Amino acid sequence: MKKVLLLIASAAVMAACGGPLSPQDKLTVNDKKINELIGQMTLEEKVNMLHSKTNMSSAGVERLGIADMNYADGPFGIREEGQPNGFMSAGWTLDSATYFPTGSALAATWSEELAYKYGTGMGKEARLRGKDVILGPAVNIQRLPVGGRTYEYLSEDPILSAALALEYTKGCQDEGTAVCIKHFAVNNQETNRGSVDAQLDERTLREIYLKPFERAIVEGGAMSVMPAYNKVNGEYCSENEHLLNEILRGEWGFKGFTVSDWGGTHSTMGAMLHGLNVQMTGSNYLGQPVIDSIKAGKLTEEMVDEKVRQILRVRYAIEAVPADVANQVMTSQPECQDIARQVAEKSIVLLKNEGKVLPIAKNVKSIAVIGQNAVLKTQSGGMGAGVKALYEVTPLQGIEKRAAREGIEVDYAPGYKNFPGRRWGPAPAQKDPLEADAIDEPADQFLMSEAVEAAANADLVIFFGGTNKNIETEGSDRKDIKLPCGQEELVQALYQVNPNLVTVLISGGPTDLQVLEPVSPAIVQGWWNGTEGGTALAEVLFGDIAPSGKLPFTFPRKLEDSPAYALGNFPDKNAGGDLFSLMYRPDVLKMSREERQKLIDSMPKPVSKYTERFYVGYRWFDTKEIAPMYAFGHGLSYVDFAYGEPKATASKDAVKVTFTLKNEGAMAADEVVQLYVSRPEAQVEWPAKELKAFQRVSLGAGETKTVTLTVPVKDLRYWNESINAWDLEHGKLQILVGSASDDIRVSTHVTI
Ligand code: GLC
Repeated sequence: MKKVLLLIASAAVMAACGGPLSPQDKLTVNDKKINELIGQMTLEEKVNMLHSKTNMSSAGVERLGIADMNYADGPFGIREEGQPNGFMSAGWTLDSATYFPTGSALAATWSEELAYKYGTGMGKEARLRGKDVILGPAVNIQRLPVGGRTYEYLSEDPILSAALALEYTKGCQDEGTAVCIKHFAVNNQETNRGSVDAQLDERTLREIYLKPFERAIVEGGAMSVMPAYNKVNGEYCSENEHLLNEILRGEWGFKGFTVSDWGGTHSTMGAMLHGLNVQMTGSNYLGQPVIDSIKAGKLTEEMVDEKVRQILRVRYAIEAVPADVANQVMTSQPECQDIARQVAEKSIVLLKNEGKVLPIAKNVKSIAVIGQNAVLKTQSGGMGAGVKALYEVTPLQGIEKRAAREGIEVDYAPGYKNFPGRRWGPAPAQKDPLEADAIDEPADQFLMSEAVEAAANADLVIFFGGTNKNIETEGSDRKDIKLPCGQEELVQALYQVNPNLVTVLISGGPTDLQVLEPVSPAIVQGWWNGTEGGTALAEVLFGDIAPSGKLPFTFPRKLEDSPAYALGNFPDKNAGGDLFSLMYRPDVLKMSREERQKLIDSMPKPVSKYTERFYVGYRWFDTKEIAPMYAFGHGLSYVDFAYGEPKATASKDAVKVTFTLKNEGAMAADEVVQLYVSRPEAQVEWPAKELKAFQRVSLGAGETKTVTLTVPVKDLRYWNESINAWDLEHGKLQILVGSASDDIRVSTHVTI
C-alpha cells in the first residue's frame, strides 16, 4: 500500500513540475505531509531528531508515530547488534549475517551487475535486522597503498569506484534500505584521521575524490551521506560549507540528510549553518545548545525545520520495520550467501601464471598448504566494519573439500607467526606460540623447517601470504607494504625445496612482492573474500572456473614509487596527533578530555598535501613511466582473448566503441574489457591515460561476441578552475582498449 501511495504522490509531483523526477527529487514527494507533521512538533521534539538516541539510532517522535532511525555498519555485512550505549556486543543469536567480500574484492570484479546484487544483499539483511540505514558503501579513493581502509574502499579510479558505488546504492535502496555513503570526502588516510587537513585543488577534488559520491547521490538517489572525520581545505567535513551546502545540496540537489561520523561533529553553529543534520553520537552540539542558540537569536527554528524535513524525507521514503517483525529469523540468508559466493568467484585475480602452474594439474596427488592466512578468518577485525558471520569457509577448508573430490592429499603447516596488532586489553596469560611480537620479526625457524618439510614431500605447494585485519585496519595506516613476520624468507625456502609453488595473497591492499615474485611461478590475489571465500578460491585453483578479477589498484614495485610517497606528501613528518591517533597511548588514556584537548592543541596540526593532484594511482605510474609490479586493471585468465579492430563514433552526448571479443580457450571465461582515453594534442594538462569505460563479458569456449562500450561526453570533461565549472576540451581522443591499463590490445581515435 505504502509503495502505491508513493507512486501516486510521485506522479502528482511529476505532473506539477512537468517531467520525471530525479532520484533525489523523489525524496520530496511527501513534503506536504512532512510539513504538516513539522507544524505539529515542538522545538524540543525537532531538536531531539538532530542527535543520537542510542549508539546506532536517532530519535523519531513517538507521539506523532514517527519511528526512530536505526543505523547499521556495513559496508560488507550487517554488523552484529551492539549495546545501546556503545559498540560492545549485545550477545544476540539471530544477528549472524552474511559476510560479503570486502570493498577491494567487490571492486576487483569490475561488475556493475554484481555490485547491484551486493547492494540488494545488504539491503535485504538490513531489513531483517530492523535497520533503516546502512553505514555504507565506503567509496573513498585509495590514494595510499598503506591506507588502513584500502580493504574497505573500492579502487584508485573514480570511474570504476563511481560505477560500483552507484549500483550498490541502487541495489540496497531498491530493497527498502537507505544507504549512508561515506566518508564524504577526501578521507584517504587513517593517520590523524580525526583532524588531518586534506589540502587539494578543486580540479582534483571534482575529477577524482568526489566522483564516486556524485554518481551514487545524483544518479543513484543515495538518501544519506556521512561527512568524514577529516578537514578539507581547512574546514571539518561535518561543517564544510563548500562540500555540504554548495556542492552536495546546491549543485547535486541532495534532498536527504547527513549524519556525522561517530565523534565527528565539532560545533553547534558550524553544524547548523554548514550542512549537518544528525550528530552521532551525543547531543553536546546538536542538542540543548541548538535551543539555547535559537533563544539567543543566533539560529532560527526554520533552520531546525529544514534539517528535520530532510531527515523525514528519508524516514518516509523507507518503511520502519516494527520491533516485533525485526530480528525474528537468522539474518544471513542463503540467497545472500550465494551473492557473496558469486562476487568472490569473480574477484580473484590471477597476477602471474608462469608455466601454467594453474589450474592445478590432474597429476597432482598431494598439496602442501603453508601459511596461517589459509586458516585465519577475516570476517572481524579492521574495527567498525567487522561482521559476525553465520559461517566463513576458509581457504584451507575450501581446498580440502575440493581436493577430496579428486582423492588429493592435503597437508597444512602454519609456516609463520601471525601478528595480532594492537591489543584491546591485557595480554593473555598464556602466549599463543603462533602469535608474533613484532610485524617485522624474522621467520620462526621451527615453523619454517616444519613447512619446508611439508613442501618437500608434496607435488604442489600453495603458500598463503599477505596481511591480516589487525595490520590493515580502520584507525591506522601501515608503515609499509612489506610482507610480515618473515614470509619472504619462508617462501624462498619453500621454493628451494619445491619450485612447483603457487602463492595466494590474502590481504585487502597491495603488498611488496619484490622478493616473493621471483620464487612464485603463480601468484593469486585472494582478498578478504567473504563467507564463501574459500569455496571460490578452490574453484579457481582447481580450474572449475577461470579467474577473471582485475586489480582495482596498482601494486607498486616499491612503496616509494607511489605518488604521495614520491612527493613526500605522506606521512606528514611534522604532524602532531589527534584524538584518534593518541587515544591508544596509555599516558593519554589517563587524561581528562580537557587535558587531552590541551595536548592536541599544543601539537602541530596534521596536514596532508595532495600535490600529486589528479595523478593518483596508475595516472601517476603511466604519466611518470614508472613500471609497477602489477598494473591497475591487471588480471590473467586460463584462456586467451582476441580483440577485433574497434570502430568508434562520436555524437554530442557519447563516444561509442564497438569491437569483437573472442574466447580462444577451451573453457568458458569472463574478460573485463577496459577503455582508456589519452589526448595526444591536448592544450589542457591530462594524465597519460584515464579509464573511461569497462565491461565484464562472459564467453563460452571459442565464442565471439560484439562488445560496445559507451563513454558519455560528460565524463570527458575537466574541471576548469578559470571558470570554476566543468568544461570540455575539443579535439582528438586516442581510444585505447585492452585487458589492463598496461595491456592495450587495440586502439583507434575520434574527435570530440
Ligand atoms: C567509525 C567509522 C565509520 C563507522 C562509524 C560507526 O569510526 O569511521 O565508518 O560507520 O564509526 O561505527
